[in-house]
Amino acid sequence: MKILITAGPTREAIDPVRYLTNRSSGKMGYAIAEAAVAAGHQVLLISGPTSVDVPDGVDYLPVESADDMYRAVESYLPRMEAAFFSAAVADYAPAVVEEQKIKKSGDEMTLKLVKTKDVLGAARTVFGFTGFLAGFAAETENLEINARNKLEKKGCDLIVANDVSRSDIGFDSNENEALLVFADRTERFPKAAKHELACHLISMLAV
Ligand code: CTP
Repeated sequence: MKILITAGPTREAIDPVRYLTNRSSGKMGYAIAEAAVAAGHQVLLISGPTSVDVPDGVDYLPVESADDMYRAVESYLPRMEAAFFSAAVADYAPAVVEEQKIKKSGDEMTLKLVKTKDVLGAARTVFGFTGFLAGFAAETENLEINARNKLEKKGCDLIVANDVSRSDIGFDSNENEALLVFADRTERFPKAAKHELACHLISMLAV
């Protein structure tokens, strides 16, 4: 199958030397890419900046901002059969990117942010994607309810939900524990290496 994977954080520029980002390491998405190639799939990995090695055999498209990621997914998604949106895309970005470095002035400074485009949310409605669609949810409370709402709102077949209030799993960890929320059921995936979860997710697809 042809599989698109988004991974990593995004960087939203404030000025030429500063940006807003988040703690995503990219490890989960890269593990899915590696497992997919090992299972014989053709993989395009669209990733924000990470320090993880790109797995052999993966087509790699590096991006920086949420807007870059939106445009990259828009171009490639129509020719894909499955997609895993594991990227931690910024929900808001600076309204204005200053051309020159912002100089210190008063004691306070206010940064105006505007909502970014929801890449996963556009997959069905804007890009017309009809393949298998998996999104991720990072939650600190009401994991299953929030994940199920996301599943319905974004037209996904699966939401992989993580409890990010725990420091032993998720973000920079090599391990993960997840709730796999489907339209008709919820599965608990016990704590294991991200590689194990990646293999489990890929095994759900037909080659
Ligand atoms: N996502 C995306 N584009 C965005 C924001 C999120 O593609 N601009 C995707 C992520 O890759 C992930 C899922 O949407 O698969 C996460 O959903 P989201 O609603 O953004 O989760 P939260 O950021 O946790 O949202 P909220 O704060 O509303 O819970």
